Amino acid sequence: MFLITGATGNVGRNVVEQLAAAGHKVRALSRNPERAQWPAGVDAVAGDLADAASLGAALAGVEAVFLLAVPTASGADFVAAAEAAGVRRVVLLSSGSVDDDAETQSGPIAEYHWRAEQALRASDLEWTFLRGEVFAANTLPWGYQTKAGDDVRGAYAAAAGSPIHEVDIAEVAVAALTGADPAGQVGATSHAGRVYHLSGPESLTHADQARILGEVLDRPIRFVEVPVDAVREQMSAHVPAPILDDIIGIWAASVGNPRPVTDAVERVTGHPARSFATWVQDHAAAF
Ligand SMILES: NC(=O)c1ccc[n+]([C@@H]2O[C@H](COP(=O)([O-])OP(=O)(O)OC[C@H]3O[C@@H](n4cnc5c(N)ncnc54)[C@H](OP(=O)(O)O)[C@@H]3O)[C@@H](O)[C@H]2O)c1
Repeated sequence: MFLITGATGNVGRNVVEQLAAAGHKVRALSRNPERAQWPAGVDAVAGDLADAASLGAALAGVEAVFLLAVPTASGADFVAAAEAAGVRRVVLLSSGSVDDDAETQSGPIAEYHWRAEQALRASDLEWTFLRGEVFAANTLPWGYQTKAGDDVRGAYAAAAGSPIHEVDIAEVAVAALTGADPAGQVGATSHAGRVYHLSGPESLTHADQARILGEVLDRPIRFVEVPVDAVREQMSAHVPAPILDDIIGIWAASVGNPRPVTDAVERVTGHPARSFATWVQDHAAAF
């Protein structure tokens, strides 16, 4: 049995679907499973990662877990509950902002992912870390603007990320959970103790991403840079201040200093990471 946390999210939903399609036994966790929709045969379970006491039923009989780090959890509580339940393997969705060499992490985003990694490193569990660069799905909120016009207003047109398709992250997660090799042979390899730094196939600025959105949708979409304070005020309705400051800081730091492009998706799955244009095609209705 595989337990998938974040199973209503961009990545976790795809992990559930891929495992279920391959015939594996899957349990999907949400704080509100009654609102979620998963494929037939998937076992739905309620649980909150910030409250390890709520995870007992979710972890019973589970061999491997796809785990999210959440800002409100220490990681250590989860590890204790997983070890007590007899879980063998955990695949953690971590962040490319974690820095192994830093004495202190650069901000709260790196910090809560690092905390979860440290708890797993100190455990008896087999672990694999998927350190994701920026998700292509972070551009989904642009859909509110592109449904009203052709301008995408945001901060730092030149902020340069390497956006990754959530299906690629999910494929790497499934390989790590099932021990699959790049040919897809389940049980053929171990991913224990591996740290995969996952990115999309190319470095793209915010302006590049808006341009590609327009090319794929055949519309003159362009990124219009607005003052960072205006963006901060608008995003503060949805994002807590320390996390928002961190996101803005990561954008600022990537201007002229692009986030890395890695080949880890191809090394694990046997195929190159999907392009941002492919991601837009897959989500055209959202824009
Ligand atoms: N976005 C990025 O660029 C990026 C990059 C690297 C790493 N990450 C990490 O990737 C993970 C997913 O990020 P996302 O932006 O893609 O999220 P998302 O699709 O919005 O999904 C968030 C998921 O987290 C679950 N969740 C939140 N708090 C929880 C809690 N206390 N207990 C159990 N489940 C909880 C939600 O489940 P329910 O609401 O159904 O309970 C939901 O399934 C996060 O840990 C994030 O830090 C994100």
